[in-house]
Amino acid sequence: MIRFYGVTKVYPNGVKALDNINLHIKKGEFLFLVGPSGAGKSTLTRLIFREELPTRGQVLFNGRNVARMRSREVPYLRRRIGMVFQDFRLLPQKTVFENVAFALEVTGASSRDIKRRVPEVLKLVGLEDKAGMLPAHLSGGEQQRVGIARAIVNNPVLLIADEPTGNLDPETSWGLMELFQQINKAGTTIIMITHAREIVDAMKKRVVALESGRIVRDEEGGGYSRED
Ligand SMILES: Nc1ncnc2c1ncn2[C@@H]1O[C@H](COP(=O)(O)OP(=O)(O)OP(=O)(O)O)[C@@H](O)[C@H]1O
Ligand SMILES: [Mg+2]
Repeated sequence: MIRFYGVTKVYPNGVKALDNINLHIKKGEFLFLVGPSGAGKSTLTRLIFREELPTRGQVLFNGRNVARMRSREVPYLRRRIGMVFQDFRLLPQKTVFENVAFALEVTGASSRDIKRRVPEVLKLVGLEDKAGMLPAHLSGGEQQRVGIARAIVNNPVLLIADEPTGNLDPETSWGLMELFQQINKAGTTIIMITHAREIVDAMKKRVVALESGRIVRDEEGGGYSRED
């Protein structure tokens, strides 16, 4: 589904965030992307979503070179990817319901589908009682869950979650991991960036570790740290 061939990303300020990344992620996989702050994890996912372009190398999504897509194809790419952003990126003037509904509206969903589907996903993330509230009136963890609801509402083929449990209490985090497991079993490929050691250790999924822009470990059923 996703292939990185010799991908290097140098930001305009000269920071080399990724250094010759080669990676193959297959459809249906559940992958944890770990590594210290500044290792390049968010940058790697931004290249898949075409928020950034590689400086060298290629990123392929279902065989297509993401950097070479025409601008009119980009919305279609992004619609198939559910993205949970590290900084939430909610629309401040819109309610919880409207934030999630917006992701459906842009795909041309009918108002009937929106009225049915939005409460369904808000329930999945435990926010059914907050539908009418504005993001500013929610806790950090609640805002994070709005971002998760928005990312999954379109049944994406790929879900990229950048530290989705960063603001959640342990119980809510485990609830979220159960939800991700269900979504993954239903066929969605998942890339989850996390610093949550206990979650990675318990889930026994593929772990890709980045350090200073390089892959230093790629292990099936691995833990948060190298076992040695
Ligand atoms: N837009 C940008 N412009 C310039 N440098 C950037 C930009 N975004 C990230 N960087 C730099 O690129 C490197 C990798 O950043 P990135 O955000 O990918 O790290 P990360 O692994 O996601 O870290 P964290 O765990 O803190 O989120 C860092 O040195 C960072 O300062
Ligand atoms: Mg990051």
